[in-house]
Amino acid sequence: MDYLKIFSPATVANVSCGFDSLGFAVDAIGDEMTFTKTAKKGVKISKITGADLTYNVDENAASAVVQKILKEANANFGVELTIHKGFSPGSGLGSSAASAAGAAFGTNQFLGNIYSELELTKFAMFGEEVACGSAIADNVAAAIYGGFVLVRSYEPLEIVKLPVPEKLRVVAIHPQIEVKTKDARAVLPMEIPLKDAVTQWANVGGLISGLYTDNYNLISNSLVDIIVEPHRKKLIPFFDDVKQAAINAGALGAGISGSGPTIFALCKGNKIAKKVLKSIEESYKNTEIDFTMFISKVNSEGMKIIESK
Ligand code: HSE
Repeated sequence: MDYLKIFSPATVANVSCGFDSLGFAVDAIGDEMTFTKTAKKGVKISKITGADLTYNVDENAASAVVQKILKEANANFGVELTIHKGFSPGSGLGSSAASAAGAAFGTNQFLGNIYSELELTKFAMFGEEVACGSAIADNVAAAIYGGFVLVRSYEPLEIVKLPVPEKLRVVAIHPQIEVKTKDARAVLPMEIPLKDAVTQWANVGGLISGLYTDNYNLISNSLVDIIVEPHRKKLIPFFDDVKQAAINAGALGAGISGSGPTIFALCKGNKIAKKVLKSIEESYKNTEIDFTMFISKVNSEGMKIIESK
C-alpha cells in the first residue's frame, strides 16, 4: 500500500463530569486525510483545506506526529500528507486531536500496523502537545478507539473503551467564536473542595454505569459538572440559555464540548434529538453570533479507511 485516505472523527471530551478523562467520537464530522508513501524520507504537507493551519512540519500537529512515528519506527520511507479539516480549530470538538490521531493511524497502516491503539494514542498525544501545549488524551483516545473512552490513568497511560447505548444521539451547536484550549485551561482552579470532588467522581461512576446498563436516567442524572463548567461557561456567550433549551426539549443533559465553545447535548433517540436541535437553534438565532449545528450518532469505530491502494 502506498496511498491511503482516511476519516478521523471529531470528538467530545470531558462529557461534563469527566474532565480530561472521558471522551467520545462523533460520526457526523471529522477530518479527511491522505497519506502517500514517498521514497524520500521525512514528512511533507502538500495541501491543507478547510482551515488556515501551518505547513511547518514541526509545528503542525499531524506532521509532527507522522515525523515522530517514522523516526521511532526507523522507517525507510517518507510520507506526503494532505489534510482536509471538516471543522474548525478552536471549536472544542478535538480539531488538533483529529489531525494528530489520524496522522498516527495513517502512518501505522504504512508500517504494517506495528503499533497498538494505546501506542497510537501516545503518539497522538504528542501532537496535542505541539498544538496546545498539553499532552491531553481524552480527545485523541476517543478518535483512535471510537465510541466512549475513559482515560483511567495518564502515567502509565491506560484507556478503557466503554459501551455506547444504541439510542444515544448527540446534538451540538458551535458558536463561531474561537476559544483556545490554553485559555480555557487557564481559568480553572488548581484546587477543589473535597465535597465537590465527591460529587464529581460520583457522577463519573454514574455515567459509566449508565453506559454499561443502557440506563438513560442514570446517564441523565450523571451529566453534571460542578468543577469545570462554572468557570468555562463565562467564555461561551449564552451557554445557560442553550443548556436550558436543550433540557426543556428533553435532552438527557448538556455541557461544554471539550474546552468549548461548542455545546453538546446527549439525547435518547432521533426524535428527541431533532426537538433538541430545534430548541437550541431557536434560543441562539437572535444572538447575532453565527453558529453551525449537527446531530450525530456516537461513532463506535473511530478511524475509517475511505480508500487505499
Ligand atoms: N480535556 C481537555 C480540556 C480537552 O477540557 O481542556 C481539550 O483538549
